[in-house]
Amino acid sequence: MYQSKIAGMGYYVPKNIYSNDDLTRFMDTSDEWIQERTGIKERRFADRTEETTTTMAIEAAEIAISRAGVTAQDIDFIVFATLSPDYYFPGCGVLLQREMGMREIGALDVRNQCSGFIYALSVADQFIKTGTYKNILVVGSEKHSFAMDFQTRSRNVSVIFGDGAGAVVLQPTQDNHSGILSTHLHSDGADAEILAMYYPGAHANKWLKNKPSFPDQELGGLFLTSEQLESGAALPYMDGPAVFKKAIVKFPEVIREALASNNLSEKDIDLLIPHQANLRISQYVQKLLGLRDDQVFNNIQKYGNTTAASVPIALCEAWESGKIHTGDLVCLAAFGSGFTWASALIRW
Ligand SMILES: CC(C)(COP(=O)(O)OP(=O)(O)OC[C@H]1O[C@@H](n2cnc3c(N)ncnc32)[C@H](O)[C@@H]1OP(=O)(O)O)[C@@H](O)C(=O)NCCC(=O)NCCS
Repeated sequence: MYQSKIAGMGYYVPKNIYSNDDLTRFMDTSDEWIQERTGIKERRFADRTEETTTTMAIEAAEIAISRAGVTAQDIDFIVFATLSPDYYFPGCGVLLQREMGMREIGALDVRNQCSGFIYALSVADQFIKTGTYKNILVVGSEKHSFAMDFQTRSRNVSVIFGDGAGAVVLQPTQDNHSGILSTHLHSDGADAEILAMYYPGAHANKWLKNKPSFPDQELGGLFLTSEQLESGAALPYMDGPAVFKKAIVKFPEVIREALASNNLSEKDIDLLIPHQANLRISQYVQKLLGLRDDQVFNNIQKYGNTTAASVPIALCEAWESGKIHTGDLVCLAAFGSGFTWASALIRW
């Protein structure tokens, strides 16, 4: 069995910065409310017409691939995590493969929202461990801005999310003491609807069956109707307080699970990189685990919550700013829609 190591990483955030004050031009909100509840000061929004989830992923991937000392031709598998794909189908993995001129390699799309990157990393880790592949590109990328509603009715969602991408290249290493020590994945679908976007979706007929517009026919239906668009049924829905309550339980749980399975404890963590959901969630988890400020990395202040991109962006930014050293124990952890939650423990 091989061990996987992160051989290169990169991130990309769009140039357009929107401060909290900028958002007050579109909705009834305030810098004070957003900073106090979430810690966010500003976020990046992709160019509306020129940038997509795939183009941002390519920017991040090019840096990761070059830092790994390989070329796009050397990549032998892609795992792409996003909840904001360019198309309903096919997924972004094949678009990335095409645009980067890669060989006819496998491309897998992961739909685990905020935990998506750690799920993707875990899948890649298994393929490296078994010796199946030697260079796997793992990507998290999101263009939330195109689907969010910038009106007051959706302000609890739209002030939180931002756009961006992060990528890593995983390679095998013979050194059994470094690299990914373990990954831990969980889900509980009991509350799947409290952080979700229901439409377009295959259960659209259920929503429509008592509406006058429901087509009177034996088969087929409507994928997305103008009624749904107007009523806001095709917008992301989030019960923020309920998400918060679950997140502060599952984050520490999955971090402790990772430590326990490696006979380690909280004091062994050199850097915790939590999914950037909300600064208050990170601070709560930090306190519960008894970690110092320098043991937890946060950049939500600058980028908001970038869902599947948040962990690789934060990991790469932490590394670039010299916060990760050889031998360090780095813990990645995430929680999000599904609910799904996950962690990965890495010896650098
Ligand atoms: C979304 C979140 C910031 C809301 O904070 P909260 O303190 O729970 O606030 P509530 O939703 O209870 O709303 C409190 C009030 O603020 C208002 N409000 C909501 N969004 C607002 C905004 N952007 N600006 C101003 N006021 C806002 C609400 O309308 C409500 O007003 P009311 O009391 O008059 O009804 C918080 O619940 C949260 O961060 N949850 C976790 C979300 C998350 O991490 N999601 C990503 C999952 S990975």
